[in-house]
Amino acid sequence: MKQTLLTIEDFINRREKLFALMPENSVAIFAAGHEVTRSNDTEYLFCQDKNFYYLTGFNEPEAILVMVKTTPSDTKQHSTYLFSLEKDALQEVWHGRRIGQVKAKSDYGVDHSAELAEIDQLLPELLNQKQSLLYLQGDNDQLDKKVNAWLKKVQAGNRLGKKAPQNIINATALLAELRLFKSANELNIMRKVNVISGGAHQRAMEKSAVGKYEYQIEAEILHEFARHGARHAAYNSIVAGGDNANILHYTDNSEVLNDNELLLIDAGGELAGYAADITRTFPINGKFTAEQKAIYQLVLDSQLAAIAAIKPGNSLANLNELVGEILTTGLFELGILTGDLNELIAENACKKYFIHGLGHWLGLDVHDVGDYHANDKRQQLRAFEPGMVMTIEPGLYIPLTDTDVDEKWRGIGVRIEDNIAVTDQGHENLTVNAPKSVAEIEALMAAVKLKAKTEA
Ligand code: GLY
Ligand code: MN
Ligand code: MN
Repeated sequence: MKQTLLTIEDFINRREKLFALMPENSVAIFAAGHEVTRSNDTEYLFCQDKNFYYLTGFNEPEAILVMVKTTPSDTKQHSTYLFSLEKDALQEVWHGRRIGQVKAKSDYGVDHSAELAEIDQLLPELLNQKQSLLYLQGDNDQLDKKVNAWLKKVQAGNRLGKKAPQNIINATALLAELRLFKSANELNIMRKVNVISGGAHQRAMEKSAVGKYEYQIEAEILHEFARHGARHAAYNSIVAGGDNANILHYTDNSEVLNDNELLLIDAGGELAGYAADITRTFPINGKFTAEQKAIYQLVLDSQLAAIAAIKPGNSLANLNELVGEILTTGLFELGILTGDLNELIAENACKKYFIHGLGHWLGLDVHDVGDYHANDKRQQLRAFEPGMVMTIEPGLYIPLTDTDVDEKWRGIGVRIEDNIAVTDQGHENLTVNAPKSVAEIEALMAAVKLKAKTEA
């Protein structure tokens, strides 16, 4: 297996966990991703379907995993089948090596492997007489169509005694719940990709200069990811100078960096499929103005308070309350919000400038799967449990067009984002090496300038 950083046992354990949740006498089917056309005959770099990857570690398109669970009276209670593209010398010389069926079985820990061409024959046989079928409904149009065709084929044999599964179960929530809790090996990968990504943010601070373009800083970040093994960004990097920071998903990265403006960078690498999601905001010329520093420190205070409150039993609701109070009070003290402070806090007035959520689950997807609410009380955000990983990313955004505030605040956009794992006792901040305090950032950037001067 190429750079998975996980072992066969990790993937077998995941499948075992899913088998334990499957009803007796059932079949579960999961499909790999497809190549996606970028233009004419060129494709985007392939990204495996994350649920399929979670269960297999198999990184080729089109493959299909079938998990069969029989009844307890059977001697072998479950088995796995991996269908994949056949070896093909001509295709491989043009497009790359294929794993093939021999290695699929030996390297991926499945019981049976077969060529994709065999699936239409075999799947109806595996589905026959099973009570339940699980798959990710609505996730993959091609799989939806195939499943319907396989079910039809079984039903067509009804007069010969064949019977198709009667319970069709959407497995989306089951997979999401499994993926929400990270194992020790997963946490190790997430630590590593955080260190790589933190280094990229540090490099961005070092390379930032008035007159450079946003895309040049993006290139420094991607360089730093790739040279440490995270070949891809986990999502399109946001490199937003000045007022561009007030566009939350700004990925144009095409403009010049100006003096006395901030640069907001939201970028994280992907390692063995796992994402980091880090944001830092810093002065392009290395020194915060008084107004930038005031807003930055306020966002940082709220972020530190939120992180400190992460422990089993607390929830995002507790954190939202803390952050809301800190940001609203701070904005009031700066004169950006006016009125009665208690009333402002009661109505969470900071949301005028803190226009997104405080954080989200993180893992194989940057906005990772996992239910945010308590199972029994859907109105309540669920309590944190060890193994969950989330981002904490408060921000304040005051666009140039905001005429409600004094001109001196306009054009400032700040977000600070770290990745936090919930532990037995509290939490672990995985984001350890991206400079964050005003003093750290200014010191780093001053040191780079000094070095450049002495070398000149
Ligand atoms: N990078 C997207 C986010 O922070 O949610
Ligand atoms: Mn995020
Ligand atoms: Mn982010």
